[in-house]
Amino acid sequence: MTQFCYRDELLYAESVPLDQIASEVGTPTYVYSRAALESNWQEFESGLAGLDATIRYAVKSNSNLAVLALMAQLGSGFDIVSGGELERVIRAGGQAQKTIFSGVAKSQEEITQALLAGIYSINLESHAELLRVHEIARSLDRKAPISVRVNPNIDAHTHPYISTGLHENKFGVTMDEALDIFRYAAQQPHLEIVGIAVHIGSQITALEPIVETIDHVINLAEQLAVENISIRHLDLGGGLGVRYQDEKPPTITDYCNTVTLTVQSRNCRIPVSVEPGRAITANAGVLLCQVEYIKSSGNKNFAIVDGAMNDLMRPALYDAWMEIVPVQTNCEPKKIFDVVGPICESADFLGKQRSLAINPGDFIAVRTAGAYGAVMSSNYNSRPKPAEVLVDGDRFDTIRSRETVDEMLGTESIPEHFRV
Ligand code: LLP
Repeated sequence: MTQFCYRDELLYAESVPLDQIASEVGTPTYVYSRAALESNWQEFESGLAGLDATIRYAVKSNSNLAVLALMAQLGSGFDIVSGGELERVIRAGGQAQKTIFSGVAKSQEEITQALLAGIYSINLESHAELLRVHEIARSLDRKAPISVRVNPNIDAHTHPYISTGLHENKFGVTMDEALDIFRYAAQQPHLEIVGIAVHIGSQITALEPIVETIDHVINLAEQLAVENISIRHLDLGGGLGVRYQDEKPPTITDYCNTVTLTVQSRNCRIPVSVEPGRAITANAGVLLCQVEYIKSSGNKNFAIVDGAMNDLMRPALYDAWMEIVPVQTNCEPKKIFDVVGPICESADFLGKQRSLAINPGDFIAVRTAGAYGAVMSSNYNSRPKPAEVLVDGDRFDTIRSRETVDEMLGTESIPEHFRV
């Protein structure tokens, strides 16, 4: 009987057994720990106590309404990347006034929605976007609060798909372009300059690129000050990594200390924001699956489970290693398995070459699955999306019911003239 939830080496104090949840809710199911989510968020809060700092939780890492409501209760701000995420924040009790809107391709509708909601800042990623935001603000007769996201050309040393701070990446603008945008924005009646934003990537496991990035941003703020363009906010992005296998990421406290020292060493008094996602949610969640079949072919053993790449895409998309543990331990000898799902392609694996003692009917847990798990699930192979559960002490609640086939098919229709 495995107790929920792991937080690195620490076993969390939640007291609902995972096999009880798996039996009652079925599988595949994501399970999150309230205690772990709160404690990760609070570690950011206390770590940044020496600065005028705001934590803006990156909604994209886990956007379940219950998780957002928990963040809102803690007093968190939010980092969003779509109108859908803004709606989630508001429905969960979060405030637009504490929310930042990032992303390279905000639509007219999304910008309008954000301005009407009273967003704290729209983080601009191009000159073209600046013009669009200004035009919309003018037509609404409002002032659009804007920041400019810079691309500092700093290597975050992470997977190329989640590296965002190099000039080869689509994100942000160069320092020179940023200066031009700020000079232009300072002249426009319907734009209000809020700050500078940056985000160099995700699953960052070293502090040096973070220090270098903060220095870069402060350099730009100083240049702007010389031109009498004042900045009231430095958005330092997210990106702090977690341990999936043998990575040694800084702790949240180490990260916060480094941010604090770097900002203070520059004598910078501008309020800062951080946008952590993964560091709050990843190790607060697991994906529960059940073993359907054991199959051997040649010298390979496959554990075929009911969770698949449509439920958890990270292994297939990034070749990500995520730990797999049996929920009920047994004393049988371990064998080496590829843990695979039901989807008809060979990219459909949750883990390869794993030493496990498991049998059909057993439950397994994929650890560190609270971030970029449920949010990236799809209906590939017409598989309904998994359920999500939140454990809170000795109780648990289903915070997203398992999608039904009717719900999955509900938005599709066959044109009348196709019918015979
Ligand atoms: N701020 C911005 C502007 C971002 O683009 C992101 C993540 C974050 C904050 C939060 O980063 P975090 O603290 O979670 O690292 N699906 C990938 C991760 C994509 C991250 C995208 N941007 C994965 O599963 O590894």
